Amino acid sequence: MKGMVLRGLVEHMESAFGLDVADKVLLEADLPSGGAYTTVGVYDHAEVLEIVTHLSRHTGVDGAVLVDSFGEFLFAMLVDAHPEFLEDQDDLFTFLEGIEDIIHVNVRRLYPEAELPRFACARKGDDQLLMHYRSHRPFAGLVPGLIRGASRHFGEVVDIGHEPLPPADGTRARFTLTRRSG
Ligand code: HEM
Repeated sequence: MKGMVLRGLVEHMESAFGLDVADKVLLEADLPSGGAYTTVGVYDHAEVLEIVTHLSRHTGVDGAVLVDSFGEFLFAMLVDAHPEFLEDQDDLFTFLEGIEDIIHVNVRRLYPEAELPRFACARKGDDQLLMHYRSHRPFAGLVPGLIRGASRHFGEVVDIGHEPLPPADGTRARFTLTRRSG
């Protein structure tokens, strides 16, 4: 399996739970790639889910909670890899509206083999943004953490509502972001 999501998850696991736990999880998880991965690429999302399942068993932390905190870590990692996407950006909602047409479009140019989600965004007044997520991969659970990472970066506080959409397998969801003032 390849990809930044996998590499990030392994790094997150090592820093949050230590090398011993990470080693055990990687040994137990049956990874078809044998743990070999590159930065981005076509990969089997089942490997990510497999790691999360084993990590959850070892740590007693719920899988959804692990994925959520990983999303925030992943944002920091993406920004480290591509700080250029945050240049000239000064507000959270405008940045998020640009994921589809600016950021992921450029990511596709850099890595034609990357498989990325689709986002459709709509504003509802000044303080609300709706984000509709759709992907071939069941990674909707990563989105709230990614948004939190971004909101921290911009110093804005938002409440994030997460509504899974049919078939409720993590490949489709609607997120409602409401800006909190003060
Ligand atoms: C600097 C900003 C960003 C960059 C450079 C970036 C780039 C990328 C890259 C390279 C991947 C593919 C990883 C892989 O192949 O394993 C990816 C996946 C993903 N991105 Fe972005 N991204 C950014 C911001 C965001 C934000 C803010 C969100 C959500 C609010 C988001 C949502 C996702 C999700 C959910 C995936 C996982 C794949 C999937 O769901 O199908 N990204 N992104």
